[in-house]
Amino acid sequence: MKLKKRSFKKLFLPLPYLFPKIFAFRLPRIIVVETANTCMLKCPTCPTVTAMKRKAGMIDMATFRRLADQIDWKLDKMDFGYSGEPLMNPRIFEMISYAGKRMIPTGFDTNGMLIEPFVEDIISSKLRFITISLDGTSNESLTKFRIGADFNKIISGLRKLCRKKRALNLEFPIITMQLIVMKHNEGEIDAFIELARDIGVDKVCLKSLNLNIGFWLSGEERENLANMYLPTNERYCRYSLNEEGPQFKKGFLMPCIFPFNDMVVFWNGDVGLCCLDFNGRYIAGNVTEQPIKDIWRSELYNRYRKLIFRRKLEMCKECNFTEDVNEVIALTEK
Ligand SMILES: C[S@@+](CC[C@H](N)C(=O)[O-])C[C@H]1O[C@@H](n2cnc3c(N)ncnc32)[C@H](O)[C@@H]1O
Ligand code: SF4
Ligand code: SF4
Repeated sequence: MKLKKRSFKKLFLPLPYLFPKIFAFRLPRIIVVETANTCMLKCPTCPTVTAMKRKAGMIDMATFRRLADQIDWKLDKMDFGYSGEPLMNPRIFEMISYAGKRMIPTGFDTNGMLIEPFVEDIISSKLRFITISLDGTSNESLTKFRIGADFNKIISGLRKLCRKKRALNLEFPIITMQLIVMKHNEGEIDAFIELARDIGVDKVCLKSLNLNIGFWLSGEERENLANMYLPTNERYCRYSLNEEGPQFKKGFLMPCIFPFNDMVVFWNGDVGLCCLDFNGRYIAGNVTEQPIKDIWRSELYNRYRKLIFRRKLEMCKECNFTEDVNEVIALTEK
């Protein structure tokens, strides 16, 4: 029944592309803000630390306020993640508090390396959602993909955060522990859920690996990574392997809802089309120069939307970003 409803909904996905001017009147539900485009880790599929050509930087308060002050509609979420590690920007909690005062729900994904020093800030800023990318149940397993991470440091910060939240009997932030399911950790799923229960997080997310975020890898590099990291359990895999290398499973190339739902703002105020354009090849405007509603509804944006629909932009040709391939397990009542 659920499946039928989903397939039925998909029938309507092309509509916004046929009438972009009309559908762009509905403003974005999610705004992704790039707090920083740098990171202290070196995950092998991450373009930020390997193929980023944009200048390194952090969004400043003036640019952020300029953006936040224009949001006079209901956002589902302002996501302070994107290309780098959000906690690299020490002013992130000022921004989260500022957004909170404007009733904008906020969240971010983090590699967890800097949770410990920011436990108080996470709680006092009234952050709504935090996801910790902890791809293993031991240091050995975690660092096979999260190169440079420190398991004990992350766990220690996470435990402190959960204890503080419990002590204050807070509903937020909703804390999720995420495992990207890969060859070396697929046997740890039960242990991961147990660990999450023991720490006291609210949810566990089992995510499938994307091999080509930002499309910067060559076919050969992608194949090597596929052999090294793709899990054997089909359920957690977006690809099937054949003699031509990893191929998206059938059904993953649906019309993309991204350009009608999400807006991406780079640290310098540039508005990009989607999270996968990490080098900012397609820029639709800049929030410090133009009102965001004008950018969202501009001719240029609509032109891009049409190209996205027809998968004419280089980045869209092989994109499998549009299907929800995460499995979320709730551990606490909400
Ligand atoms: C690009 S990261 C940025 C935030 C933070 N640095 C982190 O890694 O959590 C945003 C999200 O993408 C996830 N991610 C990173 N590499 C991935 C990959 N190859 N496939 C699927 N998800 C990935 C992260 O775990 C995180 O949930
Ligand atoms: S922790 Fe996040 S930003 Fe850092 S290298 Fe890994 S995926 Fe990229
Ligand atoms: S198809 Fe993929 S790359 Fe293109 S806009 Fe959508 S999410 Fe981005």
